[in-house]
Amino acid sequence: MIILTHGGAGSHNEQYTGTDLAAQEAVSAWEKGASLTDAVCIAVSILEDNPHFNAGIGSHARSDGTSQMDAAIMESSGQFGAVACLENFKNPVCVARKLLDSPYNLLCGRGAEEFAKAHDCEPYPSNAPKNTGVDFSLEDTVGCVAYDGLKFVAGLSSGGTHQSLPGRVGDVPLFGCGLYAGLKGAVACTGSGEAITLRMTAFRAWQLIEKGIPAETVLEEVLSWFDKDTAFGIILVTETGYAGGANRSMAWSSLEA
Ligand code: GLY
Repeated sequence: MIILTHGGAGSHNEQYTGTDLAAQEAVSAWEKGASLTDAVCIAVSILEDNPHFNAGIGSHARSDGTSQMDAAIMESSGQFGAVACLENFKNPVCVARKLLDSPYNLLCGRGAEEFAKAHDCEPYPSNAPKNTGVDFSLEDTVGCVAYDGLKFVAGLSSGGTHQSLPGRVGDVPLFGCGLYAGLKGAVACTGSGEAITLRMTAFRAWQLIEKGIPAETVLEEVLSWFDKDTAFGIILVTETGYAGGANRSMAWSSLEA
């Protein structure tokens, strides 16, 4: 099994202790029998619980002071679950995970909240004070990709952009934009949600993987789609390798078991 985690484009490199921990806990759960999908969900939940990252309890505030969070998870079987503008829950990725077993791909706002409530997801007030002691207004999104030799899974979670309008939705829950998993690999992006969406980045990166292009070459190619002023980072895993990087600092980790 191989797993990669990231703490978002713009996260400080020294926050790798957070991305390491997420990868270690996910591998340990997988070794005890958790599915690959649950392992990815565990990794992303741990990143959501880390106030240094822009997701879950560390989510950016919107212009009205609330947090509205996006999350998604995709399996190489083609199953996809996502939530957009979710408020008042601690781990949006767990809500997205539960959507994999539902007839829906994407729920937003009040509907996502009611679904989370009905599935006993842990509540957390969206206007809770964020006590990180650091200015992390440029940080973006947490993510994970994993491969167990048979199956690929990708997961993402984001607090969106600092001070954006309520209702704004980035790349994370949009199919093929922030993440993608298929039979040949998995991809999880981070950075400017608008730019990532307009390029359909994750699916196009995956198409390069599908052609058999090595992971490091895919990384370089996809990074070249974004100019330096447009925050962008990516982690990806293929049948034969993995890679991660960003056009600015980004904490990320990889672990093989
Ligand atoms: N990349 C996450 C967002 O822009 O919302």
